[in-house]
Amino acid sequence: TVPLILDVDTGIDDALALLYLVSSPEAEILTVASTGGNVPTAQVAANNLAWLDLCGRPDVEVTLGSEVPLVGELRTTEDTHGPQGLGYAELAPSTRSLAHRDSATAWVEVARARPGEVVGLVTGPLTNLALALRLEPELPTLLRRLVVMGGAFNHPGNTTPKSEWNVSVDPEAAKAVFDAFSAAPPERRPLVCPLDVTETLEMTPEHVRRLAEAAGSLPAELLSEDDPVGRRSRTGNPVLRVLVDAIRFYMEFHREHGHGYIAHMHDPFAAAVALDPTLARTRRATVDVELTGTLTRGCTVADWSGMWGRPANADVAVSTDPDAFFDLLIERVGAH
Ligand code: BDR
Ligand code: CA
Repeated sequence: TVPLILDVDTGIDDALALLYLVSSPEAEILTVASTGGNVPTAQVAANNLAWLDLCGRPDVEVTLGSEVPLVGELRTTEDTHGPQGLGYAELAPSTRSLAHRDSATAWVEVARARPGEVVGLVTGPLTNLALALRLEPELPTLLRRLVVMGGAFNHPGNTTPKSEWNVSVDPEAAKAVFDAFSAAPPERRPLVCPLDVTETLEMTPEHVRRLAEAAGSLPAELLSEDDPVGRRSRTGNPVLRVLVDAIRFYMEFHREHGHGYIAHMHDPFAAAVALDPTLARTRRATVDVELTGTLTRGCTVADWSGMWGRPANADVAVSTDPDAFFDLLIERVGAH
């Protein structure tokens, strides 16, 4: 099994990443941390509780993370993910409570409890992990592996022309994480899944149709591009209904931004890689984050060939096989 700490800003694609992991027999989800990003931290935590309940995992602990990035105010992006973070879907609020410990404490305690065993997966800003590193500087060696969705290298940003959302929301946190891993042994280097790869993974309505078919549940209103905006699905199983209502919103957002009626699979890819790193072809690099550029704050820069004379601190995903990824996603989520 793969014991996991998840740190998410749910978020439409975060929700699909969670469902992928819940549907994967080898994933042992130890705790879910909530980071502010797509929506405010408290809303992320509420989404995590409600979504895990619906997906049949009301036993999984959810912690509340920092309400703000390391520096400045939190920015959120309801335009991308909907008013509550799940597009057109509305989840019944959970009746259970958040854990007593906060997200940074959970990172530290869970990693310490099983040294060298736990895989950390971050699909939101890196605020909680940066705070955890202040509490436990040995985290890079306590974890078996860290997988991060974030950054854009030889690819335009999705938040500013040069920066990707998760890094852009809290660049100081991202830098603190990369710096902390520069002393880590090669097998502990974070595996980074940037836009360069995640934007090659375009979910189409046809993928959703295959997913629904695999789940044996076809919502009648399934994702025709001409569906009236905002209409909610009435048929199909409840998990799939939420998914379809969320993904429809996400596809409309992508269409408004010139990508066509598709949705990029940022976080589900990172989730798949957390369980199976061989899904990503990677390149070793020294990664740093621009904090001061007037045009480039939040930009991730990779030194691929040691020009800085500093140790490598990341394995950056550079490509993957989209068909293989979608087959896996459909097979697993469809079997949920
Ligand atoms: C990242 O930004 C968020 O909006 C998504 O959930 C994903 O984690 C992509 O840049
Ligand atoms: Ca996310």
